[in-house]
Amino acid sequence: MSWMQIRNRSWLIPAGLLVIVAVMLTVVSYSVPLYRLFCSATGSGGTTQRASASTGASSRMVTVDFSTATVRGLPWRFRPVQPRVRVQLGAENLVFFEAENLSDQPIVGHATFNVTPDKVGIYFKKIQCFCFTEERLGAHQKVEMPVTFFVDRAMATDPSTNDVENITLSYTFFRSVRPSGADDLSRFANAPADPAAGRMLFASHCAGCHALDHAIEGPRLAGVFGRRAGSVPGYPYTPALAAAHVTWDETSLDSWLAGPRSFIPNTAMPNVVDDAASRRHIIAYLRTLSTPKGS
Ligand code: HEC
Repeated sequence: MSWMQIRNRSWLIPAGLLVIVAVMLTVVSYSVPLYRLFCSATGSGGTTQRASASTGASSRMVTVDFSTATVRGLPWRFRPVQPRVRVQLGAENLVFFEAENLSDQPIVGHATFNVTPDKVGIYFKKIQCFCFTEERLGAHQKVEMPVTFFVDRAMATDPSTNDVENITLSYTFFRSVRPSGADDLSRFANAPADPAAGRMLFASHCAGCHALDHAIEGPRLAGVFGRRAGSVPGYPYTPALAAAHVTWDETSLDSWLAGPRSFIPNTAMPNVVDDAASRRHIIAYLRTLSTPKGS
């Protein structure tokens, strides 16, 4: 080995080290801005998201509007049961769509959906839905179909959605071209009572007027199952409800929720729940609520 060769090699090591150090310094000095850039683009690590992670839902609210259509010679009436709901980002919601077969034969339909504006599509998450499956509806049968969804709270950290107040969920039902092997929509009408579904329905249908442990517009409802109607001390019932000889059980609650004033005339609660399956879910939920302590 010549002297030159030895000298060249000995130079290579410090030079290589210098290059490595220079690269590392560059990475370190850029990493904070790079991290910030990444986070503002993706929403990761934003303070809003961290704050909302601890509560499970964001404080931001949006309105979800529902729209429905039928095409390709499908003789069904198809409509959202509620035209819109106001939802909290991150919170789970249960809504219903009603389909009725107006013809004399069973028909298989197939639904597709669309969310607008397009940019919120990625935040709209469905947990349970009748979409994309072949669904049979018997002649003149009518059914309410549940959809469980939430709007991802990550939307709160996406600045491009700051202007979004309303989201529209549109469903279109087509006549199926592959009717064999379809599911029967009557499964929803016959669904067993589910307290978890009832809790969500309570939030959207009842919580505006009823709390569990104190009166709002209506009396408190914890412990209502098995209670005599019109009997919460201090609540200003209508004389009709205070005098009613009714104990709240499955049957009486069902009649009350289907039509309060036809069940007990001259009472003050408006009609709230047309759908029998929804009433079953709500009653199953009320049943789980025990009387608050001290009363
Ligand atoms: C717009 C307000 C409003 C909504 C919505 C509402 N209620 Fe009521 N509710 C009332 C009022 C007011 C009364 C008392 C009626 C009276 O005194 O005649 C009442 C009474 C009741 C009672 C009788 C309680 C008792 O102590 O005897 C039950 C049970 C009840 N509501 C259940 C429900 C459920 C379940 C829902 C949701 C599916 C609901 N209500 C939705 C206003 C409402």
